[in-house]
Amino acid sequence: MTARVLDGKQLAQTMRVEIAAAVAARTAAGKRPPGLAVVLIGDNKASAAYVRNKQKGCAEVGMGSWLHHLPVHTSESHLLALLDTLNTDPAVHGILVQLPLPPQIREDAVIHAVGPRKDVDAFHPENVGLLAAGFPRFVPCTPHGVVHLLRRNDVPLAGREVVVVGRSNIVGKPLALLMMQKATTANPAGCDATVTVAHTRTPDLAAVCRRADVLVAAVGRAGLITPDMVKSGAAVVDVGTNPGAAGKLVGDVDPAVAGVAGALSPVPGGVGPMTITMLLANTLRAAELLDG
Ligand code: GUN
Repeated sequence: MTARVLDGKQLAQTMRVEIAAAVAARTAAGKRPPGLAVVLIGDNKASAAYVRNKQKGCAEVGMGSWLHHLPVHTSESHLLALLDTLNTDPAVHGILVQLPLPPQIREDAVIHAVGPRKDVDAFHPENVGLLAAGFPRFVPCTPHGVVHLLRRNDVPLAGREVVVVGRSNIVGKPLALLMMQKATTANPAGCDATVTVAHTRTPDLAAVCRRADVLVAAVGRAGLITPDMVKSGAAVVDVGTNPGAAGKLVGDVDPAVAGVAGALSPVPGGVGPMTITMLLANTLRAAELLDG
């Protein structure tokens, strides 16, 4: 078998056209264009590249974007003061502080300091709680991108065995919630699946993964998922972005899995472009909720 490609690049493009149309309709109605403020601290190359793609995405759909690039030795109090200003700026609908942060700044303090109505990452405990309760204000970007990538490629989810490998606050945990949740009007990203969460302490990870009709790898270990861990015909989503040889990006899934899986998302060009598109969707939603 050669797996069907779950093409995130193409789907992201289609969805950006939809978002751009909604943005254009708002501006034609005299409303402010949705605006995203991105805060980047230091000179981490990978973070700088992600931030550039986020800004490019904003420009593509007609949204405003502002980059606040602060030096690596910025104090926590300086960053919190900037967030206070952004929280009250009416042109800013979404705020994103790029992670990871330098060691003098507590991630926890920053997550609490982004106003929950502008928290397009959905990292604030208020938004985490709303998602866990089944009526999210914002659906976290990467998990939402995974759900759209599967849905729009007609991969069945309701009642299916989904195995999520990884339990991070950014991907594994919120994705497991969406996968297990009932699909409702308040939570259309709910998938009604049967969900197992596996991680580095799971014994016989291969046996657990082989149960999956849909296998999602979000660990951050290059090539962790090998063909023997995949049921024939399963859909496999690779969320990993690991540094490979010659500056190339490699996923958590061994490319040889394409010989066993029924569908596979590539790295790059799978989940990555979807994540940024969901950030744009959340910024549009923030504008709708804040400005009407
Ligand atoms: N760093 C890696 N992924 C993310 C993300 O989704 N949001 C933010 N703010 N930083 C990240």
